[in-house]
Amino acid sequence: MNEKEKILYDDGTHKFVMFNFDDEAHEDSFLSVNQYLIVQNGAGVLIDPGSEAIFDELSEAVSRHVDIADIKFIFLSHQDPDVSSSITQWSITTQAKFIMSGLWVRFMSHYGFMELSRIMSLPDRGAKINFGKDYLRFLPAHFLHSPGNFSLYDSRSKILFSGDIGAAIIASPDDYKHVEDFEEHKQAMLGFHKRYMGSNRVCRAWVGSVRKLDIDKIAPQHGFIFEGENVPLFLNWFEELKCGSDFLEELY
Ligand SMILES: [Fe+2]
Ligand SMILES: [Fe+2]
Repeated sequence: MNEKEKILYDDGTHKFVMFNFDDEAHEDSFLSVNQYLIVQNGAGVLIDPGSEAIFDELSEAVSRHVDIADIKFIFLSHQDPDVSSSITQWSITTQAKFIMSGLWVRFMSHYGFMELSRIMSLPDRGAKINFGKDYLRFLPAHFLHSPGNFSLYDSRSKILFSGDIGAAIIASPDDYKHVEDFEEHKQAMLGFHKRYMGSNRVCRAWVGSVRKLDIDKIAPQHGFIFEGENVPLFLNWFEELKCGSDFLEELY
């Protein structure tokens, strides 16, 4: 098994894969990022493929699970460069539709992407699409941290891709990890969430909608996987978190 990839779910017809490719030439200045792939019966959904610097490695790794031509959708949780800046390369090598917030569609041209007709823009309240016998739900995650932002729930694996929510800044994870000691892990999450997330009011709104789902794992774009008792522990922590505009007086 490649150390930069981990199978989070596999029942023979449906697979959820995590990758952790970083720009190793710029390790010191690079924020460690996770990329994800869902495959069902040979059709793929790529999630937050990230930056140009990792395109070659990631596409090679993805092609071991699904033919690149069979990637049907590429989901971009928000507009940030660690999420979206390889959109042009993926548009050339696939026929995929890009799914993203309607707020960011026009900004993609600044990454060199001009084929706006290939974008399925999500309305603020999100959407549900059929995927094989199952469905994918795009859940509002606005202001956590981007104003147009979505999480993605895969009904078959019961994995919630949470984007930057649940992110932890971990110097150089040498392999994939799930959270072991939640109390300890909070220290790796706190600084990021305190500054990058909108406010406690929005944290509560997101947790309220996530609690309606049957979740086995929460998979963030940075850091480690939450599973088992760490799922409710994380949701309880995030629900109570003071962040962003809750600290306005420290910023102005
Ligand atoms: Fe971000
Ligand atoms: Fe990020």
